Amino acid sequence: MNKKIGIIDSGVGGLSLVQEIKRIGLEANCYYICDHQNVPYGGKTQQFMLEQSLKMVAALKLKEVSLILLACNTLTVETIEDLRKLYPELQFVGIEPFINYLNHPSGNGKQNVGLILTEATFNSKRFKNLQLKHDPNSKIKVVPLKNLALLIEQKISSDINVDKEIDNELNILKEFEFDHLILGCTHYPLIAEYIESYLRVMAIDPHLQVIQQLAKLSGLPVGNPINDIQFSSNLGD
Ligand code: DGL
Repeated sequence: MNKKIGIIDSGVGGLSLVQEIKRIGLEANCYYICDHQNVPYGGKTQQFMLEQSLKMVAALKLKEVSLILLACNTLTVETIEDLRKLYPELQFVGIEPFINYLNHPSGNGKQNVGLILTEATFNSKRFKNLQLKHDPNSKIKVVPLKNLALLIEQKISSDINVDKEIDNELNILKEFEFDHLILGCTHYPLIAEYIESYLRVMAIDPHLQVIQQLAKLSGLPVGNPINDIQFSSNLGD
């Protein structure tokens, strides 16, 4: 029988990781749960995010998952430590902004690199520590975006046309003339091509590496299509 894994995000962002799960053919039964009605988490408090995560974890425990992927940079930096303490019986894998890009072979020697992320991730202690550790001289310009995750949520999950609002949000980045832009929120890769062509930039999306790491940590085999994936957009419906 396949192992059961849970996937959590505030909204549709985690689907960008599901794409990679499918791409490598991780052999697991996946349960995706999100909190669509409270997107975005980017401006919310740590306490609120922890409370919502606990509800999502409780719903996933009913499905008997043994591993949970926090498919959200914001939730990872704000809650993963607490969740690991509260649920020692579960394995948690998170995703964090790729601030060590310049130390990685793929980023070696790159210039004009930017990183976009939510305000909550930007303001978190965990992100500040990561930045000090991996990019102490701030070679990567980090720009928090207030509305982009919500706009992507609306673009993907409704008929509302928000392209103009997305352009307005991306316009803030034009003055930096980035050559490479690290996507530090799981919602962003869902419109990676749009971002690349609008800003004439190359998007850096670490999601494939995250899923390869997940496969390694969990010992799950890869190479076959996943058996099953179940979605719930509202805390355990
Ligand atoms: N997708 C989430 C992330 O990776 C956050 C989106 C939100 O602000 O709710 O940070």
